[in-house]
Amino acid sequence: MHTHYFSWRKLILAAMVGLVCAGTLSAADDTTLTKDQIKQFLLTAKIVGGKHTGKGVTQPWRLTLSDGTITHDASFQGVDEHKTNMQFASGRSEMNFVDSYKYNIAAYSLAELIGLDDIVPVYVERKWKGDSGSLSWWLPVKMDEEERHKQNLVAPDADAWNKQMYKVRVLDQLVYDNDPNLTNVLISEDWKIWRIDFTRAFRTFKDLRNPGDLVRCDRQVFEKLKTLDANQLAEKTKHYLTKDEVKAVMARRDKIVDRFQKLIAEKGENEVLY
Ligand SMILES: Nc1ncnc2c1ncn2[C@@H]1O[C@H](COP(=O)(O)OP(=O)(O)OP(=O)(O)O)[C@@H](O)[C@H]1O
Ligand SMILES: [Mg+2]
Repeated sequence: MHTHYFSWRKLILAAMVGLVCAGTLSAADDTTLTKDQIKQFLLTAKIVGGKHTGKGVTQPWRLTLSDGTITHDASFQGVDEHKTNMQFASGRSEMNFVDSYKYNIAAYSLAELIGLDDIVPVYVERKWKGDSGSLSWWLPVKMDEEERHKQNLVAPDADAWNKQMYKVRVLDQLVYDNDPNLTNVLISEDWKIWRIDFTRAFRTFKDLRNPGDLVRCDRQVFEKLKTLDANQLAEKTKHYLTKDEVKAVMARRDKIVDRFQKLIAEKGENEVLY
């Protein structure tokens, strides 16, 4: 009897230690979760707290989510504004202005399709206090690009930094963000770059906003760009992008591919693709 008693105690103890370890591990190290697990967490975990963030025009909420094992923050953005003619304080105006959380979700879906989901946090749609919005996994950020410029800091590994930035540039041209700003490029502790906030992207222009920004391209991303399929994109973003918005993405895709192909012809593949 005694031996049984002891083995049970050991088992329970081992199970408890295991649980505690699993809990602290996933809390301490985000990378232990797959993108699908993160998606699932954002969609289903209980919202246990929230506070208003200071930065930004539309000021999203920083929420805390917990599923009992993992506790993690997420950014809730509920903006969904449409105006035929938006007049800005600067005097500039924009026709068919849209500022919408839906584009955050569309941007992540598009990033997944072309292998750029390593620079965009997972965004899902979630209702909070009756409002629909996008919810993104809170990133371990040490500063944003604005801050880095202000402090005149440079990444220790220039090559790794540039390779990430080229990815950001490709995504930026593809999504046509009419409000690009340095607070939407976040830098984590290990100098990893994240691009967030696409609420004013996906304009229906078929030209590139800044073609000159396209200098180099990741090989895999280039291959995936070339094979990006309009129907697949439309299907994956059907609640978030209109037909015209999808068409515009595809038109810009064509121009991005053309531009890189021209650069390859001029400079040679190894100077352009990496
Ligand atoms: N997933 C996230 N992880 C870490 N920080 C985030 C995340 N999402 C947002 N933030 C922080 O909150 C700030 C505001 O969020 P976001 O850029 O989505 O909306 P916004 O700033 O209101 O829009 P706009 O840039 O048009 O003013 C970001 O600049 C960033 O500092
Ligand atoms: Mg922002």
